[in-house]
Amino acid sequence: MKLYIGIDLGTSAVKLLLVDETGAIRREVTKEYPLSFPQPGWSEQNPADWWDGCVSGVRELLEGEDASQVAGIGAGGQMHGLVALDAGDAVIRPAILWNDGRTGEEVDYLNNVIGKEKLSALTANIAFAGFTAPKILWMQKHEPENFARIAKIMLPKDYINYRLTGVHCCDYSDASGMLLLDVQHKCWSQEMLDICGVSEAQMPKLFESFEVVGTVLPEIAAALGLPAGVKVVAGAGDNAAAAVGTGVVGEGGCNLSLGTSGTLFISSARFGVDPNNALHAFAHADGGYHLMGCMLSAASCNKWFCEEILNTADYPAEQKPITEDRLGRNHVFFLPYLMGERSPINDVNARGCFVGMTMDTSRADLTQAVLEGVAFAIRDSLEVARSLGLEIPSSKLCGGGAKSPLWRKIFANVLGIPLEMVKTEQGPGYGGAMLAMVGCGQFASVQAASDALVELASVTKPDPELTARYEAQYQKFRKIYPAMKTIFPDLQ
Ligand code: XUL
Repeated sequence: MKLYIGIDLGTSAVKLLLVDETGAIRREVTKEYPLSFPQPGWSEQNPADWWDGCVSGVRELLEGEDASQVAGIGAGGQMHGLVALDAGDAVIRPAILWNDGRTGEEVDYLNNVIGKEKLSALTANIAFAGFTAPKILWMQKHEPENFARIAKIMLPKDYINYRLTGVHCCDYSDASGMLLLDVQHKCWSQEMLDICGVSEAQMPKLFESFEVVGTVLPEIAAALGLPAGVKVVAGAGDNAAAAVGTGVVGEGGCNLSLGTSGTLFISSARFGVDPNNALHAFAHADGGYHLMGCMLSAASCNKWFCEEILNTADYPAEQKPITEDRLGRNHVFFLPYLMGERSPINDVNARGCFVGMTMDTSRADLTQAVLEGVAFAIRDSLEVARSLGLEIPSSKLCGGGAKSPLWRKIFANVLGIPLEMVKTEQGPGYGGAMLAMVGCGQFASVQAASDALVELASVTKPDPELTARYEAQYQKFRKIYPAMKTIFPDLQ
């Protein structure tokens, strides 16, 4: 029986899955690594930590298994992170991550001097602080010696693929988030490369997510306990990989991912752009395209509130007092902008706030406000999609936050749509393994893999009365950010 390794290179940890050719998960291993915030709003990680996590993770994954059966590896990775290598392929500086907000000035320059219209025409997107292009401009200005050493630029999971195969590669879904790709035509935009002062020779080679980029290098295979000739596919950005893992491929599917970030991912067979660029227009891992809204702090808001503020990791205990009758009736609201915000408000200065507290506000009210604030902020992206005429009758749901039945109920009622969980809810890692199966010829297409492997497990349906209560709450939530917006820059 052939085996596949799916890698989810996340922000807090790398999660590895060993999947057999029937799609069954044989084993799962998680290796955590540090995330550093060297200055407020900055977010960095050391690519060596990712690699070390993958090496020890793969070894552990294969313990007691017949490793000679491993045929392919596919990764989904945190998007947009700038990994810069020198001429000897050494990492020049820590990677600047997707939730890093240091590039306010560069984003202004790109959106207002180069101009949103031009950016959108070249790349289908405008600049957001987390995207890769503004980070390149930041490095050019603030770290000229480092910038001068850049021989190759790549994204986080590409670094893993490079270490595995020796090939500098990237796939279209992840490359879309660099603001350097002409998304519609799936090639680097020469004009964008010029604007950022880099050349095509510094960029990785582009592939479809399911294409094989190479095989695992012999010395690496020996170190990992893998047989010769294991194929590595290009893989995908974690959201595209998660969508593959939940069967959101082809036309008109929707996946909501509640991880460190929160994303609303709408798949499409055809290329399309949000005329206001509030949603990202990216390539999908199935060969098509997608629109996506991304909020920077989703499950991480709950993690922050429980672990940093309440000093507990017992999330179910915190959620227990939040009984059905309290839903849609909270007097406290929470703006979940702990790292600034991307979609749809695009504001690096935005910050988290509790609003509406009184003397009788309880700990549970605040926990509830955090869960609700994240759902309201995702609703903002859903409203943008609806305003474009897109119909979203239901959505798949995945990510760590989806494990809470309470949070699922809040989401289904705030969004007013049924939310479906699939049997294998390991989004990006499972999607990565599915892409490897396609690359190894087990399935003819990503659609075929999804048809064969993805099964529904449960549905959380909205309740009309609760949806109506949450509608009224959402209308209040919508007024808070515009009222705070002008204050945030003064708080920096
Ligand atoms: C998407 C984004 C995040 C990261 C999280 O645009 O920035 O979802 O990919 O890993």
